[in-house]
Amino acid sequence: MDPIVLVVDDEEANRLTLERILVREGVAVQHAADGKEALQLIREIRPALVLSDLKMPNMDGMELLRAALEVDPDLEMVLMTAYGTVETAVEAMKDGAYDFITKPLRRADIVRTVRKALERRALVSENRALRDELDLARSEDFIGHSPTMRQVLEEARQVADSLASVLITGESGTGKGLLARYLHRHSPRRRQPMVTVNLSALPESLLESELFGYEPGAFTGAKGRKQGRFDMARRGTLFLDEITEMDKALQAKLLRVLQDGEYERLGGNKTIQADTRVIAATNRDPAQAVLEGHLRQDLFYRLDVIRLHLPPLRERPDDIAVLAQHFVTTHATRHSRDIHGLAPDAIDALMAWSWPGNVRELENALERAVVLCRQEMVGLDDLPPAVAQQGGAPSQLFFEIGTPLKQVERRMIEATLKRVHGDKERAARILGTTTRTLYRREAEWRQNR
Ligand SMILES: Nc1ncnc2c1ncn2[C@@H]1O[C@H](COP(=O)(O)OP(=O)(O)OP(=O)(O)O)[C@@H](O)[C@H]1O
Ligand SMILES: [Mg+2]
Repeated sequence: MDPIVLVVDDEEANRLTLERILVREGVAVQHAADGKEALQLIREIRPALVLSDLKMPNMDGMELLRAALEVDPDLEMVLMTAYGTVETAVEAMKDGAYDFITKPLRRADIVRTVRKALERRALVSENRALRDELDLARSEDFIGHSPTMRQVLEEARQVADSLASVLITGESGTGKGLLARYLHRHSPRRRQPMVTVNLSALPESLLESELFGYEPGAFTGAKGRKQGRFDMARRGTLFLDEITEMDKALQAKLLRVLQDGEYERLGGNKTIQADTRVIAATNRDPAQAVLEGHLRQDLFYRLDVIRLHLPPLRERPDDIAVLAQHFVTTHATRHSRDIHGLAPDAIDALMAWSWPGNVRELENALERAVVLCRQEMVGLDDLPPAVAQQGGAPSQLFFEIGTPLKQVERRMIEATLKRVHGDKERAARILGTTTRTLYRREAEWRQNR
């Protein structure tokens, strides 16, 4: 669908001139004679860009701008101003207008400005589409089968609808980011944005203005006004990831904002009410980080109102098979592969591995497996070599409910024998049976093969 430009001007001659210029550039144009009509059209035809006169009877360009952004926050708007109203136009840009052009209108100005605005609109929509897609892809269920994970999820559900700060701890790859999104999605603020700040990824010099924003002229090079993450997270959730990696002076400033519920932009003197729910995460032990001087104690107490801890995957082996199955399904869909599950020996190998990179490592291993797999099921050979060849037998076996006892018995005997390097005496002792039984079973298996 071609983007539509909506031209708003109370003078018909102007509307027609603009239309002629834009149509010749291949742009689809609609027009409205006043703000009210324009708003109606914005709701109905969803233009990409509004090119509006500033001075109009009834609703002027500024009012239209504010009302229009309520309807479509991605809307680009260019204002046309005549005599001595440039200051108002500058004001309008602070309120979200994209640009302005001064009258008398010059064809080249119009074409260039409209082009640029349309390009930006396309970028913004593309970003939004990508983000929505990502959100959707990530909004999949939080998988937790083990008793510990069930308990964490239960607690998370209980605290989600409060405004209390939450501190999420756990090794890298255990799902802290996912849990933060889960909390936001189950909170009354789910329709507002969740804004993430990765405190280890931003250079110190930028972090302060990233968090709080700035006003024009706050420092050399600060041209317009910049929204900070606190601004963007208004009425939503602010996720502070890797909280212990933050500069300590800034930690003090953050604490003040969390305590007083207000802040100022850099170079600004207006006090702004902070209205955001804060979730913080760290892969360190926060108490230890306090002792070692990486985290201010007072900030720690302020954030640690509710603690959710995600245990490492090796401490919850019950989750491995379910997560593995889940990742096979999602990645098979993503890569359009017709793969339905995992072979039993592949599951055994997954259960035996210690997963130092936790769920992220498991997910990566299975995405790779899905891509490599040439059968209908992910097999042992498809797993990363280190996982597949663990030089020995697994310490645990996995059985679907309903697996025939004969099969359970056979896999159990084989795995135990492998573990004791074929020593039948030992295997029989471990399994609580006799060597005679083991020999008999082996003979049966040979026959039935
Ligand atoms: N319980 C789970 N169910 C489904 N997917 C999970 C689960 N836990 C983690 N994942 C997936 O594993 C990957 C890693 O999770 P995430 O990024 O949330 O970890 P993290 O703890 O934030 O790691 P880091 O400390 O490195 O930032 C993500 O793709 C996430 O979707
Ligand atoms: Mg993370």
